[in-house]
Amino acid sequence: MIVRKSPAEIAQMGRAGRIVAETLALLGDHIRPGGTTAELDALAEEFIRSQGGSPTFKGYRGYPASICASPNAMVVHGIPGPYTLAEGDILSVDVGVTLGGFVADSAYTFPVGEISAGAERLLEVGQASLDAGVEQCRPGRRLSDISHAVQTTTEEAGFSVVRSLVGHGVGRAMHEDPQIPNFGVPGRGPLLAEGMTFAIEPMITAGGPDVVVHDDEWSISTSDGSLAAHFEHTVAITDSGPQILTAEAVLLR
Ligand code: MF3
Ligand code: CO
Repeated sequence: MIVRKSPAEIAQMGRAGRIVAETLALLGDHIRPGGTTAELDALAEEFIRSQGGSPTFKGYRGYPASICASPNAMVVHGIPGPYTLAEGDILSVDVGVTLGGFVADSAYTFPVGEISAGAERLLEVGQASLDAGVEQCRPGRRLSDISHAVQTTTEEAGFSVVRSLVGHGVGRAMHEDPQIPNFGVPGRGPLLAEGMTFAIEPMITAGGPDVVVHDDEWSISTSDGSLAAHFEHTVAITDSGPQILTAEAVLLR
Protein backbone atom coordinates (compact mmCIF):
# COMPACT_ATOMS: atom_id res chain seq x y z
CA MET A 1 0.00 0.00 0.00
CA ILE A 2 1.35 3.41 -0.97
CA VAL A 3 0.89 5.81 1.97
CA ARG A 4 0.03 9.32 0.80
CA LYS A 5 1.16 12.24 2.95
CA SER A 6 -0.66 15.44 3.88
CA PRO A 7 0.90 18.81 3.06
CA ALA A 8 1.94 19.11 6.73
CA GLU A 9 3.63 15.72 6.59
CA ILE A 10 5.42 16.64 3.38
CA ALA A 11 6.59 19.85 5.03
CA GLN A 12 8.04 17.78 7.87
CA MET A 13 9.81 15.52 5.37
CA GLY A 14 11.19 18.70 3.82
CA ARG A 15 12.64 19.72 7.19
CA ALA A 16 14.35 16.34 7.42
CA GLY A 17 15.41 16.69 3.79
CA ARG A 18 17.00 20.03 4.39
CA ILE A 19 19.26 18.46 7.03
CA VAL A 20 20.10 15.68 4.59
CA ALA A 21 21.04 18.20 1.90
CA GLU A 22 23.09 20.29 4.30
CA THR A 23 24.89 17.16 5.49
CA LEU A 24 25.80 16.23 1.92
CA ALA A 25 27.02 19.78 1.27
CA LEU A 26 29.14 19.66 4.43
CA LEU A 27 30.62 16.31 3.44
CA GLY A 28 31.33 17.66 -0.04
CA ASP A 29 33.43 20.39 1.55
CA HIS A 30 35.47 17.74 3.40
CA ILE A 31 36.00 15.16 0.70
CA ARG A 32 39.66 15.30 -0.28
CA PRO A 33 42.57 12.99 -1.02
CA GLY A 34 43.99 11.64 2.24
CA GLY A 35 40.73 11.76 4.21
CA THR A 36 39.00 8.61 5.42
CA THR A 37 35.37 7.63 5.09
CA ALA A 38 35.21 7.14 8.89
CA GLU A 39 35.99 10.84 9.31
CA LEU A 40 33.10 11.72 7.01
CA ASP A 41 30.77 9.48 8.99
CA ALA A 42 31.71 11.15 12.28
CA LEU A 43 31.24 14.60 10.76
CA ALA A 44 27.83 13.65 9.38
CA GLU A 45 26.59 12.17 12.63
CA GLU A 46 27.69 15.18 14.65
CA PHE A 47 26.05 17.60 12.23
CA ILE A 48 22.77 15.65 11.95
CA ARG A 49 22.43 15.45 15.73
CA SER A 50 23.33 19.16 16.09
CA GLN A 51 20.30 19.89 13.92
CA GLY A 52 18.00 17.82 16.14
CA GLY A 53 17.78 14.94 13.69
CA SER A 54 18.87 11.36 13.97
CA PRO A 55 20.82 9.39 11.37
CA THR A 56 18.22 6.99 10.01
CA PHE A 57 20.70 4.37 8.87
CA LYS A 58 22.45 3.89 12.22
CA GLY A 59 21.14 0.68 13.74
CA TYR A 60 18.85 -0.03 10.79
CA ARG A 61 18.99 -3.84 10.60
CA GLY A 62 22.24 -3.57 12.54
CA TYR A 63 23.91 -1.12 10.15
CA PRO A 64 26.84 0.30 12.15
CA ALA A 65 27.22 3.84 10.77
CA SER A 66 25.35 7.05 10.02
CA ILE A 67 26.11 7.27 6.30
CA CYS A 68 27.03 4.91 3.49
CA ALA A 69 30.32 5.73 1.74
CA SER A 70 30.98 3.69 -1.40
CA PRO A 71 34.14 4.39 -3.41
CA ASN A 72 34.74 3.65 -7.09
CA ALA A 73 33.37 0.20 -8.04
CA MET A 74 31.30 0.06 -4.86
CA VAL A 75 27.68 0.83 -5.75
CA VAL A 76 25.98 1.31 -2.37
CA HIS A 77 26.00 0.51 1.36
CA GLY A 78 29.74 0.93 1.90
CA ILE A 79 30.46 0.99 5.65
CA PRO A 80 32.66 3.98 6.54
CA GLY A 81 36.07 2.99 7.88
CA PRO A 82 39.79 3.31 7.27
CA TYR A 83 39.44 3.61 3.48
CA THR A 84 41.60 6.59 2.52
CA LEU A 85 40.40 8.67 -0.40
CA ALA A 86 42.80 9.15 -3.30
CA GLU A 87 42.98 11.72 -6.06
CA GLY A 88 40.84 10.50 -8.94
CA ASP A 89 38.42 8.44 -6.82
CA ILE A 90 34.70 8.89 -6.94
CA LEU A 91 32.75 8.46 -3.70
CA SER A 92 29.04 7.77 -3.41
CA VAL A 93 27.63 9.08 -0.14
CA ASP A 94 24.13 8.18 1.06
CA VAL A 95 22.50 10.06 3.96
CA GLY A 96 19.20 9.50 5.76
CA VAL A 97 17.76 11.74 8.48
CA THR A 98 14.75 11.19 10.73
CA LEU A 99 13.14 14.32 12.19
CA GLY A 100 9.78 14.49 13.94
CA GLY A 101 8.94 10.97 12.87
CA PHE A 102 9.64 11.43 9.15
CA VAL A 103 12.56 10.33 7.01
CA ALA A 104 14.37 11.89 4.07
CA ASP A 105 17.00 10.01 2.08
CA SER A 106 19.45 11.29 -0.53
CA ALA A 107 22.71 10.27 -2.16
CA TYR A 108 25.35 11.99 -4.25
CA THR A 109 28.51 10.80 -5.96
CA PHE A 110 31.43 13.16 -5.42
CA PRO A 111 34.65 13.47 -7.39
CA VAL A 112 37.81 13.34 -5.25
CA GLY A 113 40.15 15.93 -6.72
CA GLU A 114 40.62 15.63 -10.48
CA ILE A 115 38.87 12.63 -12.01
CA SER A 116 39.06 11.02 -15.43
CA ALA A 117 36.85 12.19 -18.27
CA GLY A 118 35.09 8.82 -18.17
CA ALA A 119 34.32 9.15 -14.48
CA GLU A 120 33.11 12.71 -15.02
CA ARG A 121 30.74 11.48 -17.71
CA LEU A 122 29.40 8.73 -15.42
CA LEU A 123 28.57 11.33 -12.77
CA GLU A 124 26.86 13.60 -15.32
CA VAL A 125 24.74 10.74 -16.60
CA GLY A 126 23.87 9.57 -13.09
CA GLN A 127 22.65 13.05 -12.23
CA ALA A 128 20.74 13.31 -15.52
CA SER A 129 19.11 9.92 -14.90
CA LEU A 130 17.94 11.05 -11.47
CA ASP A 131 16.60 14.28 -12.97
CA ALA A 132 14.74 12.31 -15.65
CA GLY A 133 13.16 10.05 -13.03
CA VAL A 134 12.16 12.99 -10.84
CA GLU A 135 10.57 14.70 -13.85
CA GLN A 136 8.09 11.80 -14.09
CA CYS A 137 6.87 12.32 -10.50
CA ARG A 138 3.55 13.88 -11.52
CA PRO A 139 -0.09 12.94 -10.96
CA GLY A 140 -1.35 10.87 -13.88
CA ARG A 141 1.97 9.21 -14.72
CA ARG A 142 2.50 5.57 -13.80
CA LEU A 143 5.22 4.17 -11.59
CA SER A 144 7.19 2.55 -14.41
CA ASP A 145 7.41 5.88 -16.24
CA ILE A 146 10.02 6.77 -13.60
CA SER A 147 11.85 3.48 -14.18
CA HIS A 148 11.80 3.89 -17.93
CA ALA A 149 13.08 7.46 -17.84
CA VAL A 150 16.03 6.44 -15.67
CA GLN A 151 16.88 3.44 -17.83
CA THR A 152 16.74 5.25 -21.16
CA THR A 153 18.81 8.17 -19.92
CA THR A 154 21.49 5.83 -18.59
CA GLU A 155 21.58 3.36 -21.46
CA GLU A 156 21.51 5.97 -24.23
CA ALA A 157 24.77 7.23 -22.74
CA GLY A 158 26.28 3.73 -22.94
CA PHE A 159 26.07 2.92 -19.22
CA SER A 160 24.11 0.24 -17.31
CA VAL A 161 21.54 0.42 -14.54
CA VAL A 162 21.84 -1.98 -11.62
CA ARG A 163 18.71 -4.11 -11.71
CA SER A 164 18.83 -5.87 -8.37
CA LEU A 165 18.54 -2.67 -6.31
CA VAL A 166 15.56 -0.30 -6.30
CA GLY A 167 14.25 3.06 -5.15
CA HIS A 168 11.34 3.11 -2.74
CA GLY A 169 8.52 4.94 -1.06
CA VAL A 170 9.68 6.90 1.98
CA GLY A 171 7.89 8.63 4.86
CA ARG A 172 7.41 7.48 8.45
CA ALA A 173 9.61 4.55 7.44
CA MET A 174 12.74 4.69 5.30
CA HIS A 175 11.42 1.92 3.09
CA GLU A 176 7.75 2.04 2.18
CA ASP A 177 5.86 0.78 -0.85
CA PRO A 178 6.30 0.88 -3.74
CA GLN A 179 9.63 -0.51 -4.90
CA ILE A 180 10.89 1.63 -7.79
CA PRO A 181 13.09 -0.27 -10.28
CA ASN A 182 15.49 1.74 -12.43
CA PHE A 183 14.43 -0.07 -15.60
CA GLY A 184 11.18 -1.06 -17.28
CA VAL A 185 8.68 -0.37 -20.01
CA PRO A 186 6.63 2.83 -19.52
CA GLY A 187 2.96 2.98 -18.56
CA ARG A 188 2.85 0.17 -15.99
CA GLY A 189 2.15 0.00 -12.29
CA PRO A 190 0.23 2.28 -9.95
CA LEU A 191 -0.97 5.69 -11.08
CA LEU A 192 1.03 8.40 -9.35
CA ALA A 193 -0.99 10.76 -7.19
CA GLU A 194 -0.57 13.86 -5.07
CA GLY A 195 0.92 13.11 -1.66
CA MET A 196 3.06 10.16 -2.67
CA THR A 197 6.67 10.50 -1.52
CA PHE A 198 9.42 8.53 -3.24
CA ALA A 199 13.15 8.02 -2.97
CA ILE A 200 14.27 7.94 -6.59
CA GLU A 201 17.77 6.46 -6.78
CA PRO A 202 19.49 5.45 -9.98
CA MET A 203 22.52 3.23 -9.39
CA ILE A 204 24.48 3.09 -12.62
CA THR A 205 27.73 1.56 -13.80
CA ALA A 206 30.31 2.17 -16.49
CA GLY A 207 30.27 -1.57 -17.28
CA GLY A 208 27.67 -4.29 -16.83
CA PRO A 209 24.62 -4.31 -14.52
CA ASP A 210 25.67 -7.14 -12.20
CA VAL A 211 26.71 -6.62 -8.59
CA VAL A 212 28.19 -8.66 -5.75
CA VAL A 213 27.67 -8.36 -1.99
CA HIS A 214 30.87 -8.27 0.09
CA ASP A 215 31.63 -10.44 3.13
CA ASP A 216 30.53 -7.62 5.46
CA GLU A 217 27.00 -8.40 4.13
CA TRP A 218 26.38 -4.69 3.42
CA SER A 219 28.67 -3.28 0.78
CA ILE A 220 27.79 -3.99 -2.83
CA SER A 221 30.16 -3.57 -5.77
CA THR A 222 30.01 -4.08 -9.52
CA SER A 223 30.87 -7.66 -10.51
CA ASP A 224 33.15 -6.48 -13.31
CA GLY A 225 35.00 -3.88 -11.24
CA SER A 226 33.65 -0.98 -13.29
CA LEU A 227 32.95 2.39 -11.68
CA ALA A 228 29.51 3.02 -10.19
CA ALA A 229 27.53 6.16 -9.36
CA HIS A 230 24.50 6.69 -7.12
CA PHE A 231 22.27 9.75 -7.06
CA GLU A 232 19.12 9.91 -4.94
CA HIS A 233 16.47 12.44 -3.97
CA THR A 234 13.40 12.24 -1.81
CA VAL A 235 10.56 13.67 -3.91
CA ALA A 236 6.92 14.53 -3.19
CA ILE A 237 4.33 14.34 -5.94
CA THR A 238 2.22 17.49 -5.92
CA ASP A 239 -0.46 18.84 -8.24
CA SER A 240 2.12 21.26 -9.62
CA GLY A 241 4.72 18.52 -10.23
CA PRO A 242 7.68 17.03 -8.42
CA GLN A 243 8.84 18.72 -5.23
CA ILE A 244 12.40 17.68 -4.34
CA LEU A 245 12.67 17.52 -0.55
CA THR A 246 16.46 17.00 -0.41
CA ALA A 247 17.44 19.61 -2.98
CA GLU A 248 20.48 21.58 -1.89
CA ALA A 249 23.11 19.03 -2.79
CA VAL A 250 22.56 19.78 -6.48
CA LEU A 251 24.29 23.12 -5.91
CA LEU A 252 27.52 21.35 -5.08
CA ARG A 253 29.11 20.58 -8.36
N1 MF3 B 1 19.38 4.93 0.72
C1 MF3 B 1 19.59 3.57 1.16
C2 MF3 B 1 18.37 2.77 0.84
O1 MF3 B 1 17.45 3.31 0.32
C3 MF3 B 1 19.94 3.58 2.57
C4 MF3 B 1 19.96 2.28 3.27
S1 MF3 B 1 21.46 2.08 3.98
C5 MF3 B 1 21.20 1.27 5.42
O2 MF3 B 1 18.31 1.57 1.02
F1 MF3 B 1 22.33 1.10 5.93
F2 MF3 B 1 20.46 1.97 6.19
F3 MF3 B 1 20.59 0.15 5.18
CO1 CO C 1 17.05 5.14 -0.57
